[in-house]
Amino acid sequence: MDARTSRYRSVYDRWQRDPEGFWGEAAQAIDWYEQPKKIFDRSAGVYGRWFADGVCNTCYNAIDRHVAQGRGAQPALIYDSPVTNTKRRITYAELLDEVKSYAAILRDFGVQKGDRVIIYMPMVPEALYAMYACARIGAVHSVVFGGFAAKELATRIDDAKPKLMITASCGIEPGRTVAYKPLLDEAIKLASHKPEFVLLLQRPQLEAAMIAGRDHDLAQLRAAALRDGKSAECVPLAATDPLYILYTSGTTGIPKGVVRDNGGHMVALRWSMENLYGVAPGETYWAASDIGWVVGHSYIVYAPLFHGCTSILYEGKPVGTPDAGAFWRVIADHGVAALFTAPTAFRAIKKEDPQGKLLAGYDLSKFRTLFLAGERADPDTIQWAENILKVPVLDHWWQTETGWCIAGNPVGLGQLPVKYGSACVPMPGYDVQVLDEAHKPVGPGKMGAIVVKLPLPPACLPTLWQQDERFKESYLAEFPGYYKTADAGFIDEEGYLFIMSRTDDIINVAGHRLSTGGMEEVLASHPDVAECAVVGIKDELKGEVPCGFIVLKAGVKRQPAEIEKEIVGLVREKIGPVAAFKLAITVNRLPKTRSGKILRGTMKKIADHDAWSMPATIDDPAILDEIAAALKTRGLGG
Ligand code: COA
Ligand code: AMP
Repeated sequence: MDARTSRYRSVYDRWQRDPEGFWGEAAQAIDWYEQPKKIFDRSAGVYGRWFADGVCNTCYNAIDRHVAQGRGAQPALIYDSPVTNTKRRITYAELLDEVKSYAAILRDFGVQKGDRVIIYMPMVPEALYAMYACARIGAVHSVVFGGFAAKELATRIDDAKPKLMITASCGIEPGRTVAYKPLLDEAIKLASHKPEFVLLLQRPQLEAAMIAGRDHDLAQLRAAALRDGKSAECVPLAATDPLYILYTSGTTGIPKGVVRDNGGHMVALRWSMENLYGVAPGETYWAASDIGWVVGHSYIVYAPLFHGCTSILYEGKPVGTPDAGAFWRVIADHGVAALFTAPTAFRAIKKEDPQGKLLAGYDLSKFRTLFLAGERADPDTIQWAENILKVPVLDHWWQTETGWCIAGNPVGLGQLPVKYGSACVPMPGYDVQVLDEAHKPVGPGKMGAIVVKLPLPPACLPTLWQQDERFKESYLAEFPGYYKTADAGFIDEEGYLFIMSRTDDIINVAGHRLSTGGMEEVLASHPDVAECAVVGIKDELKGEVPCGFIVLKAGVKRQPAEIEKEIVGLVREKIGPVAAFKLAITVNRLPKTRSGKILRGTMKKIADHDAWSMPATIDDPAILDEIAAALKTRGLGG
């Protein structure tokens, strides 16, 4: 752990001196049909494009290449599902056969290069087969997390306009089977765009009813494809062709369709496996996330396979499936070298097993590093994990938009000293700066808006799906020449980054990114609500949880408690259980500035017991006392 022995500084300097040379070299680790001659084309796309004249295929690099090079018998995926009592190893050769037939099935339904396919599935291997099959034939997948409700799915259907959707009959949450099919049917009903076909995986835990003509049984299709020897080969694609669209919360209820390309994505992710995560081909890598999130896309589905690793697909939770020793069991059973998860998972384990007693008896000898991301890693949790696991615990910072780490501790290049509360240092490709309101760099240790100088490195979003203008407006307009991360924080004297908060209305609930603006839209839609405000308040387990304040319309005679219950149900119905919206509080008035802006920040500080000062522009200071009193009735605030 010595900054002097790490190669980080020299590698970062090398990138800064010659970014194109750096990424051109990194691109050699990928198999191309046509090698890119132009590494970065400034004239293409919104801010330029990487490897614009390269021709490649993501599925080929994830699967076929390894079979061709003798890795066929190695597990590519290990499906470990405590909720169904299943463990299955899928070798690279078996995976290739599955994906070839899935790709042939898609092709038989008329799916072609550029067509969109929405995948709404739990954590089962078939979801990954579907993703790789899309990549194989150049279709653009869009995976929607299972915890979202029908309306959220409908919004994504209308934006992506899929030709076909792939789903499963159910997901399995501890103590509850979630029927996916009725949600999907409802979403298609709500959407204006109607996908032609639905392919459905029937799970024995809860079978779904099929709609004749539109719905098709995936297992039957697979059996027929295998019987008939159907297979589809990889389609050569431009490096800049889209691989997938992943929707993420924006500042309104309309999610942003983050686009990922093929070439840059492979180059950066492959680089990260060796240099950031420090794992070697053949080793087992585990991202304990969900394929519905970017961490799942990048580090369950794609990067480990680009690098010839074995990736774990875990259908379970850190606690309750069956206990807080589940992670240690998986690490030991499969010889995991590196685990990547969100701090909230470790807070959940710490809460149930503070002494780490459940570690006893598990062989963690192959386990070298724990990586955390998705939300700020609190020093307590990091130290607790270090103490019980005796391995480095490394925070790193990234976003759905970037697809890989912006700042982290690159163990592959030689680990740097850990500073608690810091996400560590920028990765090559990212010139990270902290600017003030006048767009001037602030000095070391001073808080400001965190931005990245353009161009963004390979794998980062080139644009939003069919919305170049929204992309420019959301990310590039405020700080010309820079990408706005919408995070605030500071850089210390030694170049370490500290990510402190968002500058917009996004909150992070158990590592899941949600928009409070989107929730306010739902609250406001209740017929008895005159106005509302949603803020993220501190939560010991989930980091943050949403708290909604509502003002009822004049003349409403119903009991506030009854309306609050309906509001909680409404958010679950419209956004989904993932929002974890359980707190609705009726107040007489909301605190505002004289110009009518709701003082959400001050309300949050009161709820969080943080120091706060009376905003100079407040209209009526007494309202803050009313908010504090209302919070107190729920045991919140100070
Ligand atoms: N399908 C349907 N419902 C889902 C779902 C899915 N795929 N995933 C979660 N949900 C539901 C849960 O059942 C829960 O519903 P409930 O309100 O009826 O209990 C709700 O959505 C909230 O889920 P979750 O955020 O997972 O909270 P939890 O209380 O069930 O578990 C943790 C808390 C900390 C154990 C859990 O959040 C966790 O494992 N986090 C790991 C971090 C992670 O995966 N981050 C992703 C980015 S790295
Ligand atoms: P998502 O797009 O879901 O990955 O969420 C991205 C946001 O999560 C970032 O903009 C940050 O606000 C937050 N985030 C992710 N990782 C970290 C981290 N290591 N430290 C602090 N915040 C983080």
